[in-house]
Amino acid sequence: MSISDDFIQELKYKNDISDVIAGYVHLKRKGKNLLGLCPFHTEKTPSFYIYPSSSSFYCFGCGAGGDVITFIRLIEKLDYVEALKFLCDRAGMQLPIGQGDDKVHKKKILTYEINREAARFFHKNLCDEKNKNVLEYLLKRGLKVKTIKHFGLGYAVNSRFSLINYLKNKGYKENDIVDANLGFRTRNGSVCDRFFDRVMFPIIDLRGNVIAFGGRIIGDGKPKYLNTSDTIVFKKSTNLFALNFAKTETNGQIILAEGYMDVIALHQAGFQNTVATLGTALTEEQAKIISRYANEVIISYDADEAGQKAASRAINIFRNIGVNVRVITIPKGKDPDEFMKTYGDEGPTRFRKIIEDSKNDIEYRLQKIKSDYNLNRPDEKVKYLTKAAKILAELDNSIEQEIYASKLSAEIGIEKSSMMIQIEKYKKYKNRKDETQYFKDVVNKTLAFDDKVNPDKKDNLRASVAEEALISYMMNNQDRAPNILEKVSEDMFITVFNRKIYNIIKKLYEENREFDITNISSQGLSVDEIGKVTKIFCGYVPSSGTNEALEEYISVMKQEKYKQKVNDVKDMDALDIKEYIERLKAIKK
Ligand code: UTP
Ligand code: MN
Repeated sequence: MSISDDFIQELKYKNDISDVIAGYVHLKRKGKNLLGLCPFHTEKTPSFYIYPSSSSFYCFGCGAGGDVITFIRLIEKLDYVEALKFLCDRAGMQLPIGQGDDKVHKKKILTYEINREAARFFHKNLCDEKNKNVLEYLLKRGLKVKTIKHFGLGYAVNSRFSLINYLKNKGYKENDIVDANLGFRTRNGSVCDRFFDRVMFPIIDLRGNVIAFGGRIIGDGKPKYLNTSDTIVFKKSTNLFALNFAKTETNGQIILAEGYMDVIALHQAGFQNTVATLGTALTEEQAKIISRYANEVIISYDADEAGQKAASRAINIFRNIGVNVRVITIPKGKDPDEFMKTYGDEGPTRFRKIIEDSKNDIEYRLQKIKSDYNLNRPDEKVKYLTKAAKILAELDNSIEQEIYASKLSAEIGIEKSSMMIQIEKYKKYKNRKDETQYFKDVVNKTLAFDDKVNPDKKDNLRASVAEEALISYMMNNQDRAPNILEKVSEDMFITVFNRKIYNIIKKLYEENREFDITNISSQGLSVDEIGKVTKIFCGYVPSSGTNEALEEYISVMKQEKYKQKVNDVKDMDALDIKEYIERLKAIKK
């Protein structure tokens, strides 16, 4: 990557890290830093810090960290060049011409292009007189032509080579078409269309790229839907159908439906804030994306058992990240699409009424368990109350708890205080569980048992702490670098990762460049590795940046290296040892 440091500096300057992150995370001031709930993992107490003085962020909970570019890479799921482009757009800057030509980026651009061409091709097929039965199928299902155009629906014709030949004629290569998952290679080596004789639903990301397709069989048959598998531009667990349209229509509220047709029918009926997952259960990542655009979600899943189970799971995921949830039940087991079709012009008003009458998730869950018990029998009453108390104990909000406890006790005819006692009991148990988890995390982190970036650390704790302190010292005292680089050589590092960072710093120094987080990150580090460097940088604050401290770090590194060597010696024969001692003498001078 050969974009100049000056350009990156300007880019960072124009995209102030606090401003950028404030667009995603609610931040509070804490001294000279900012603090909020980490957008990269689930937490209820904030451990996500922004350090304006070094233009960096770090989460003490999950270890994500870096500069503003890394933040955008992580949160928008972009590669390095795309993140630069994103920030350029935000700041009204132009990425230098000829940049953005690295391999991954090129492949992504190509895949977007192939997908877009395919979407155009499918749409053209649908408009073709020859395929008017398909258009009729959609019209009969209640879609208007305008809606079909808006969603760019299409048709993959009943031939094995139609799209492949079209794309090949446009100059695209078979391998790239296969990689986009629009074709597959058969055993005899030729490439076939992946979708044929299906209605095609393009899936579009937030920047308007066609990233995947869902294809529905016309009429009955299996599989009903065929979806693009994960590709370089598509991961089904982190994308949502129609969020590209919904994101500007939310008013704080998003409707989560189950299928493509439900989303389309609801958009057509005026509920443009509807999205759906892509043929899989809701993931935490998807919930987090939704939470960026809405603080309340209305779940409108099928009334069948599978749908209701999925709703319960989704409720838990949303609650954990602080999104309010309401659940709609559509009468007579219909899905939203069938509902709209049944009620025609009355559909939208009726649906709005259902939303207004919908229960919040707690009411919904209480009602669901209630239907499991026969409340005329005392023993069943007890079971019901016990289960209800467990649900209420999960609430963090004690006012909410009181309200539901009142309702329940009135309903069953017991004292509210008895209900509260039981809730408290479960709450204590839950807190104990939370605490155990907390200490487990702390211990694992401190002892580096789960340090995936620097796996050598757990066996070389003392050495790696000294190495990290030294690295931090260098980053914080760049004027002293010549002195340090003279005293410390790469073979004094025991852990491979820290040695790698040392070498990067050395290289930057030799190129006369600053060794800040941005320049270090751009030397081919993964986002996990960048997080680790940020932790090192922010974790050992300059208060320990005295000369004595520096000497101490170096001395610890030497001792540890020596110890390691003594260990090595155990397995040596006499001759090796003699040679080894000579070498040591030479090093020590
Ligand atoms: P449904 O079976 O409820 O279909 O699956 P639907 O959305 O109501 O579609 P129509 O009305 O029959 O046309 C819900 C969603 O689950 C995924 C699709 O995303 C679908 O929209 N799905 C379903 C698949 O991915 N594959 C399948 O075979 C079936
Ligand atoms: Mn349906």
